[in-house]
Amino acid sequence: MSFTVAIDGPAAAGKGTISKAVAAHFGFAHLDTGLLYRAVGAKVLHGADPLEAAQTLEPIDLDGEHLRTPEVAQAASKVAVDADVRAALVAFQRQFAARGDGAVLDGRDIGTVICPSADVKLFVTARAEKRAQRRLDELNGKGMGLAFADVLADVEARDKRDSERATAPLKPAEDAVLLDTSDLTAEQAIARAIEIVQAARG
Ligand code: CDP
Ligand code: CDP
Repeated sequence: MSFTVAIDGPAAAGKGTISKAVAAHFGFAHLDTGLLYRAVGAKVLHGADPLEAAQTLEPIDLDGEHLRTPEVAQAASKVAVDADVRAALVAFQRQFAARGDGAVLDGRDIGTVICPSADVKLFVTARAEKRAQRRLDELNGKGMGLAFADVLADVEARDKRDSERATAPLKPAEDAVLLDTSDLTAEQAIARAIEIVQAARG
């Protein structure tokens, strides 16, 4: 039997951290769907056509630190507005969700569009300043030397574009559990998410 956990929310809310920990705890597979859009965005920055890039994406394209830069994040959120690009990525995500050993998918539209009948839906959020500080610490920890104001502007621009687009906008599914991590440590957020998934498993 498949068991699907959908984790959505804005940039740097802690989706990936929670998803990885939940997947490890329950022995589920994890797909960071943001990487699909980042990989398409990275190809477009190199001159590719967005739809063709989405249609020809390969697992190898989802690998690499170059996908983690703010430039690629912005390019990702621009290609993510395109309904045809999104449609080209649906089948891969749904196949992943249906695997028999359980799956955690994190992104923006997992609970609303990709897996509307997921067994558990979490909407992870936090105040924009907190999210920007976390992303700043993460990127500068890798030696990027970014300024807080620039990271905050990047996060807010993507939040706006992601929330206002016509196709699969960022919003909580009606049956999602909201998890505000603004004043939680990563460990506390993980513990809460595991409790929620455990309760749903029965
Ligand atoms: O996947 P998403 O962009 O939503 O966020 P992430 O990459 O999981 O988290 C961004 C950073 O925030 C990571 O370095 C986490 O360790 C940190 N963090 C967190 O995820 N949750 C907290 N409650 C506190 C910090
Ligand atoms: O890690 P972070 O939350 O900063 O970003 P991400 O999850 O890697 O996603 C990068 C961009 O891809 C987002 O800003 C969205 O525009 C897009 N995306 C999307 O539209 N739908 C998804 N399911 C996942 C990401």
